[in-house]
Amino acid sequence: MALPKPHGGKLIQSYDPNYDLTGIEKGILIDAIALSDLELIGVGLFSPLTGFLGKADYESVVEKMRLADGTIWSIPVTLPVSAEKARELIAGETFKLVNEDEVYGVITVSEWYEPDLSKEAREVYKTEELAHPGVKRLFERGQVYVAGEVTLIKKPGKGVAEDVWFEPKETRALFEEKGWKTVVGFQTRNPVHRAHEYIQKAALETVDGLFLNPLVGETKSDDIPADVRLKSYRVLLENYYPKERTQLAVYPAAMRYAGPREAIFHAIARKNFGCTHFIVGRDHAGVGNYYGTYDAQHIFSHFTEEELGIKPLFFEHSFYCNKCEGMASDKTCPHSKEDRVILSGTKVREMLRNGELPPSAFSRKEVVEVLIEGMREKETV
Ligand code: ADX
Repeated sequence: MALPKPHGGKLIQSYDPNYDLTGIEKGILIDAIALSDLELIGVGLFSPLTGFLGKADYESVVEKMRLADGTIWSIPVTLPVSAEKARELIAGETFKLVNEDEVYGVITVSEWYEPDLSKEAREVYKTEELAHPGVKRLFERGQVYVAGEVTLIKKPGKGVAEDVWFEPKETRALFEEKGWKTVVGFQTRNPVHRAHEYIQKAALETVDGLFLNPLVGETKSDDIPADVRLKSYRVLLENYYPKERTQLAVYPAAMRYAGPREAIFHAIARKNFGCTHFIVGRDHAGVGNYYGTYDAQHIFSHFTEEELGIKPLFFEHSFYCNKCEGMASDKTCPHSKEDRVILSGTKVREMLRNGELPPSAFSRKEVVEVLIEGMREKETV
């Protein structure tokens, strides 16, 4: 098996640190999500996108999970601005993309349009409720979407992820260098608990390498901060994973909480990194009760594996079972609920905040220690 081609066939490279800004006076202010999208378009993680979606692509993605040319694409990547800002736009003109007084890139505006945000919410997030963090953000960002090709000029800082921040071209080279013919990607926005470890290692039994790829872009405020999580991944890998078969790298995208649609999006980004396989477990990229436990697995049946170009590996809800004396799932464990160690994310965060240790059947003690210390530090700053 060879590493998959980038989505759409070609790795987009649209980064030019020497871009000449002379004569480009006007700018568009972009938020943290658009900045992250700009960067990920620029380095090719969102290949085949070369810019923010135009109207035809946007409508096609919302309605059909495909770009206008038919390429599978499940989440609109858009640049919202206010109606007032839209009045300054001129088609064909290039604008600076500015975040906190820094120019990170440019966009050559092809068009702008008013999206049907309610429809986008219903189709992409399956709800219009503002209690959904992705929907809330959707309605809070601008009323007009600006489209056009972008060039990334300056990369935002890598923070504490300096040594584990790779572009797709670098991860592809890394996998080749390691001689991995098959690589399974793992998305997470949480610390890696025993259930995550179990499904990662079950997958690793059949592939050459594990690409642990935590999302470190914008998440909701009650998720554990990325810097604390990174420490926890490092200590876990150090103590419990074979070095020569594991690679940690950050996925610097914003979390959308779009459940099934985001699972497809996550798989495509990992394909661009060079993964051949992608893990989808229970309630992938879900939030609250908006999606069925396995909806993010079922959505893959809309597409053939050949067309998607990365093989999803599905896992049932996993847990430690006291009777089995090991990790198991509904598929492998005949025992009752009372025998199983199952804690919700909310419960765990509450325990960590109170300095309480979740049981080792739920999370490795080294991980828990890092999390408690990290939460304590955050609260004192
Ligand atoms: S996510 O928003 O990034 O999907 P999380 O970090 O909890 O959230 O999940 C990472 C991956 O592990 C997802 O594929 C998810 O479906 C899977 N997963 C999380 N917890 C379990 C579990 N107990 N059993 C099986 N799969 C799980």
